[in-house]
Amino acid sequence: MFIRRQLCRRARGYIMLTKAVTLLLTVAACVAVPSNIARPCRVKDNKCVRDNLAANSRCNPNVRGFLPAEYTINSFKFDTPYFNATYIDNNLVIRNHNSCFVSEFFFNVDSDAAVLTIDCPDLDFESTRTLIQHSSFQEDTTYNYSYRGRYPLVRLTVNFPHANALDLCSSFTFADVTELPIFLINPNDEKTENFLATDLTLLNIYERETFFYRANQLARYYINSLICNFGCDF
Ligand SMILES: *[C@@H]1O[C@H](CO)[C@@H](O)[C@H](O)[C@H]1NC(C)=O
Ligand SMILES: *[C@@H]1O[C@H](CO)[C@@H](O)[C@H](O)[C@H]1NC(C)=O
Repeated sequence: MFIRRQLCRRARGYIMLTKAVTLLLTVAACVAVPSNIARPCRVKDNKCVRDNLAANSRCNPNVRGFLPAEYTINSFKFDTPYFNATYIDNNLVIRNHNSCFVSEFFFNVDSDAAVLTIDCPDLDFESTRTLIQHSSFQEDTTYNYSYRGRYPLVRLTVNFPHANALDLCSSFTFADVTELPIFLINPNDEKTENFLATDLTLLNIYERETFFYRANQLARYYINSLICNFGCDF
């Protein structure tokens, strides 16, 4: 009953899509509802998002409850297809991941989907990076440099199909690098020094490709640690 009244009064705020049946009844009872988008939670309200995710998935709401302000991943590999390159971040230190917050969460009743956006200000990545350059008819060439980059705002959007059977581990996460990073690069040898581009006009493409690979780790580790644990950190 609470569910139905909420929806009718506020037109688009209701809580817990516990069952598809409840959902259908709720919608049928309020013909005046202008939109089938429901935003049950306020921005930054992890508890509310947790209750809604837990009611519509198999995630475990008994989460660890914190994310370290700084942690290390031994090796993180990604590709930048536009640049014909593969990268390995060795001893990747990620800082400020704990500052992310939920900035959007809605269910779309019509498409039977849910969307969760997490904003991450000031994400900081530091690593010793191996760059593997590929080209036709040639052996790969490997370069080595240290990297540190600070990203003013990375925005992670998870699209969950099946609003009442959400599964983070098979859902796509899109990472939007809203601003280019402030970064520092130190080549670890002369070969690398001679190779590294000083032309940064393609940096936006590079960052988009890089974060295409980082998106899942960032979204999943955050959600599983602080909101509801789906059991996959990468
Ligand atoms: C990637 O390789 C292709 C094919 O050799 C080449 O045309 C292209 O310029 C390379 N991309 C970059 C960014 O160098
Ligand atoms: C890259 O350079 C660093 C610093 O000189 C070194 O510790 C590391 O072993 C090098 N890594 C590779 C893959 O060459």
